[in-house]
Amino acid sequence: MRVILIGPQGAGKGTQAKRISEKTGARVISTGDMVRAEIKAGTELGRKVKEYNDRGELVPDEIIVEMAKPHLGAPEGWVLDGFPRTEAQARALEEVLAELGIGIDRVIALEAPDEVLVERLSGRRQSQATGRIYHVRYDPPPQDSEEDPGPFVQRDDDTEEAIRRRLELYHEQTEPLKRYYARQGLLAEVDATRSIPEVTEQVMKAIRENG
Ligand code: AP5
Repeated sequence: MRVILIGPQGAGKGTQAKRISEKTGARVISTGDMVRAEIKAGTELGRKVKEYNDRGELVPDEIIVEMAKPHLGAPEGWVLDGFPRTEAQARALEEVLAELGIGIDRVIALEAPDEVLVERLSGRRQSQATGRIYHVRYDPPPQDSEEDPGPFVQRDDDTEEAIRRRLELYHEQTEPLKRYYARQGLLAEVDATRSIPEVTEQVMKAIRENG
């Protein structure tokens, strides 16, 4: 199964990608996680991408495509979280997939208005131990859990200014991808304002109804 999740920041791409992966065995490929891992490791690439990340700007297409490429042949299939995010990335992805002789099964657009997204992002916490995503109100981090001891921290790009910039860029550069994939008959839109399990159910339904 090969599925792309598109959606504005905070729509729940990371949350849903993990849940779909648990249900289907497909690998989660998150370019955002890759960017943060490089920053955390303090690599040269990490230093290059940190400024973009912290300002809420998009990392240049060629860097992102090189990061994602080695994972796209995964035999267990994948859920792409946060990639592609521009038309240039979508075209580069198509080229890589053509070389590998594989295709995309479904593109799911998670839909939610900006005011819901800002509230979700300001309450988001991520476990430094496991990378799992929580929300102080909607999915609170566990207390005294051996499975996930935390600490549970806020991301550097979850400041109000960076959130606003990321949403602006989403509407400008990523939203047009919906038309791009609709023309290919791959797009399904899902209401992401519902509860986390309800959204998963709708996403799984859209995957099963494939095309
Ligand atoms: P990335 O990590 O992809 O961040 P993002 O796009 O800003 O998306 P988010 O992770 O903020 O949101 P999400 O939709 O995954 O929401 P989540 O599940 O966490 O990218 C970070 C940066 O890396 C970019 O800014 C850029 O610099 C760079 N980058 C990455 N990919 C790139 C690319 N392709 N091109 C160029 N640059 C790239 O959920 C949010 C919160 O809401 C959580 O707290 C969660 O618990 C809660 N929540 C989720 N669903 C629900 C629900 N249904 N009800 C209630 N609460 C919910």
